Formats: sequence, C-alpha cells, structure tokens
Amino acid sequence: MKPSVADVRLTSYNKDVYEPSDDSFALVDALQQHDWTSFSPDVCLEVGCGSGYVICSVAKMLSQHGLRAQVLASDISSAALEATQETLVAHGVADVELIQGDLLKPLIPRFQHQVDLLIFNPPYVPTPDDELTRTDIARAWAGGNRGRAIIDKFLPQVKEVLSPRGFMYMVTVTDNRPEDILQLLSNDDIEGKVILERAADEEALRILCCWRRHERDAEGHH
Ligand SMILES: C[S@@+](CC[C@H](N)C(=O)[O-])C[C@H]1O[C@@H](n2cnc3c(N)ncnc32)[C@H](O)[C@@H]1O
Repeated sequence: MKPSVADVRLTSYNKDVYEPSDDSFALVDALQQHDWTSFSPDVCLEVGCGSGYVICSVAKMLSQHGLRAQVLASDISSAALEATQETLVAHGVADVELIQGDLLKPLIPRFQHQVDLLIFNPPYVPTPDDELTRTDIARAWAGGNRGRAIIDKFLPQVKEVLSPRGFMYMVTVTDNRPEDILQLLSNDDIEGKVILERAADEEALRILCCWRRHERDAEGHH
C-alpha cells in the first residue's frame, strides 16, 4: 500500500513561497515509490523546503513505516521556513528542525557523510542570469543558464553530507540535461538514474535518485 502524503489543502504558501506544483508532486510520488521496507534512515534532510509539502510528506511516510529519524528542512527564504512550520503544525507533525541558509553550507560541518535521505527540488527553470539576483519568489524557480546555476552549486556539496547508504532525490527538467548532472555526480563516485519521468506544463520533469557508488556496488544492489 502506498503511504499517504501531506494534504495540499493543509499546506501553507503565499506570494513569497512556492506553491506545491507538478514538480513537488512528482518528487513526492518518487519518494513514495522508494523501498521503505529495507531502508531505515537516521537523518533525512530537504533543502529548499518552500511550503513544507515535501518534508511533511516524508515525515508521514516515516511514521507510517514505524521509522524514527532526525528530520531537517532548510531554505534560504525565511518566508518559506515560516510556511513550512505552519504546514507541519497543520498536519500534527512535530520534531522537524528548520534551518535557514544557502544550500548545504550550514549543514556540511554538522552532517559529514551522515544524511541518509537528501532531497532537493531546486530552482531549475532556465532564465537570464540577471533573474538570479532577485530575492522575491523568483528565487524559487530562477535557474539561470539551462536552469543549472543553483543545481551546479549544490552538486559538489552532495558528497560532503550523503551517507554511505544514503539516497539523494532531486528534481530536474530535460533543459537541465539530467544525463550531464549524473555524469558530474559520477566524478564524485555518486551514481544514479532517472527514476520518474513526467510531462508537466511546458516542461519535462525528470526525478533523479542517486547513491554512493562503492557501497552499493559492493553489496550488489544495483
Ligand atoms: C522549486 S521550490 C521547491 C519548494 C518545495 N520543496 C516544493 O517542492 O514544493 C525551490 C525552493 O528552494 C529555495 N532556494 C532557492 N535557492 C536556495 C538556496 N541557495 N539555498 C536554499 N534554498 C534555496 C527557494 O526559496 C524555494 O523554496
């Protein structure tokens, strides 16, 4: 049975906070398809939590599988963190730590190779580079050239926090060149694949799932 997820009607957002959209739903669908029966994460972290719809869904998945984990959500936007807090309260979810900061920077010193589930729905929309300096809601979607400006800052940080048995789920669109993203991660001994493809309004979503190469090869899982 598929675990239930956050209720979009109980999810907070406003003009400054990204409304749960097709990309958010595709990401949650991909996470639902994860094999939770053989996975018991100790640390789960969503970067760029926005409304909190995704991390709240993850908290519900954990609880439905009887799993206890340290759950954290971060965003660069204080409005997003306030919305996430409201969304968590509306769903009766406690014990999610909220952190304001730029990508994984504030978390790397604390979670070296410790994050078992890392999640990011980045600003991936291709835009002119001057959109990148905006501090309003554009920060939720503006991705610069090929939509890769924020993604390419995030990728080298992944190896710092991902645990040996960890998984990283990230939203991309075909404009971001997901195969090229997988190649860049592969240079850090992180491998992965597109686990969900979905056509949405004017974009072709590709959800990536990635893991450290050596551990799982040795176990013969992939
Ligand atoms: C596409 S929205 C995703 C929101 C939510 N996770 C969802 O799926 O509905 C991207 C989020 O990333 C946040 N963000 C943008 N740049 C960031 C950065 N450098 N560090 C952390 N968060 C960032 C935005 O504020 C926004 O909330």
